[in-house]
Amino acid sequence: MVAVVSNSLSCLAIGRVAVMVTLLVLSSGCQAQLSSTFYEHTCPHALKTIRTVVRAAIARERRMAASLIRLHFHDCFVQGCDASILLDDSPSIESEKFAKQSNNSLRGYEVIDEAKSAVEKTCPGVVSCADIVAVAARDASKYAGGPSWTVKLGRRDSTTANITLATSQLPRVANSLEELISLFGSKGLSAREMVALSGAHTLGQSRCVAFQARMYGNRSDIDAEFASARRRNCPPLAPDGDGNLAPLDPVTPNSFDNNYFKNLLKKKGLLQPDQVLFNGGRTDNIVLEYSRNRLVFESDFASAMIKLGDIEPLTGSAGIVRKICRRVN
Ligand code: HEM
Ligand SMILES: *[C@@H]1O[C@H](CO)[C@@H](O)[C@H](O)[C@H]1NC(C)=O
Ligand SMILES: *[C@@H]1O[C@H](CO)[C@@H](O)[C@H](O)[C@H]1NC(C)=O
Ligand SMILES: *[C@@H]1O[C@H](CO)[C@@H](O)[C@H](O)[C@H]1NC(C)=O
Repeated sequence: MVAVVSNSLSCLAIGRVAVMVTLLVLSSGCQAQLSSTFYEHTCPHALKTIRTVVRAAIARERRMAASLIRLHFHDCFVQGCDASILLDDSPSIESEKFAKQSNNSLRGYEVIDEAKSAVEKTCPGVVSCADIVAVAARDASKYAGGPSWTVKLGRRDSTTANITLATSQLPRVANSLEELISLFGSKGLSAREMVALSGAHTLGQSRCVAFQARMYGNRSDIDAEFASARRRNCPPLAPDGDGNLAPLDPVTPNSFDNNYFKNLLKKKGLLQPDQVLFNGGRTDNIVLEYSRNRLVFESDFASAMIKLGDIEPLTGSAGIVRKICRRVN
């Protein structure tokens, strides 16, 4: 009978049924999987609570939608989607927040703190920080006018962070197309999924320091007028100008749409990793397709975000549920 139960229940049962069955499922060699109904009984209002906080944060500042989507990406690419990105420096933690790719540019930590404390009020110690980040990214896309999707849940939080991994595994502005494809490939994401995910640059802002070199080089992969306009607010080699911001999609910086891809066709990609997606290489046809078909882009984006959220989660009894996202309990 017990064997029948553990065989007939999928791993999705974890978190919903008795601990006994959970242990049996795990001991049968079946790996715990994420499930959209994970908190159905243990914290039924979790998703609504998170949504309310995220909606208010984006209403206060529209850029926050971009920042929350990026936060999930920077979490998942380092040790998997385990909220390692949220851990602050401490005697035992070297925070990933200070990795070059995130230092002084990754945002949204306070919104996650706020969502976490709201959820803790009704169900203490139940909902992981990693799941809150995943849900916030989905809600952010929706509130910015982009696609929505069903978020799989049941991730647990890490007790460690790894700034070395963050520095080596998050993409950098100097990466070539092949390097980018390989970085995403090492996370199980295809070139097409990488192009779709890069479409998140339809939202948000970049600091001058990240596109300065591109605007001052004498190069053929950039529209001259566009470069000249960007240079006006991004002085050459001036540390003071490093923090100046420019929109990643100047046409509609706060709306999730496919203008990002249309800009690339006109050589108006802000960052080098934007324009390399359409610069005579093997992803040109994907950019072309997304520029012509917003629905295909949005559907691919949603699927790719689900895959991003599936990267190496801690499940079952691995990891912990942090009480405060910034530190280990
Ligand atoms: C393909 C490789 C990628 C590279 C090299 C890259 C690089 C960057 C850089 C340099 C910035 C500006 C940061 C700064 O101000 O210094 C940025 C912003 C941003 N990135 Fe990416 N990115 C990549 C892929 C992604 C992906 C996959 C997502 C999400 C799915 C994403 C979402 C964002 C968003 C939304 C912003 C704006 C954030 C804000 O305004 O707060 N990026 N990215
Ligand atoms: C992060 O940025 C701060 C402020 O600009 C700087 O002082 C610090 O050295 C940077 N951290 C790392 C690890 O680069
Ligand atoms: C970070 O990850 C690398 C590669 O897996 C590992 O060698 C190193 O010990 C890790 N550092 C920390 C602080 O966990
Ligand atoms: C840019 O490069 C082209 C050809 O490589 C050259 O003819 C032109 O003079 C250069 N322009 C500037 C401003 O350096």
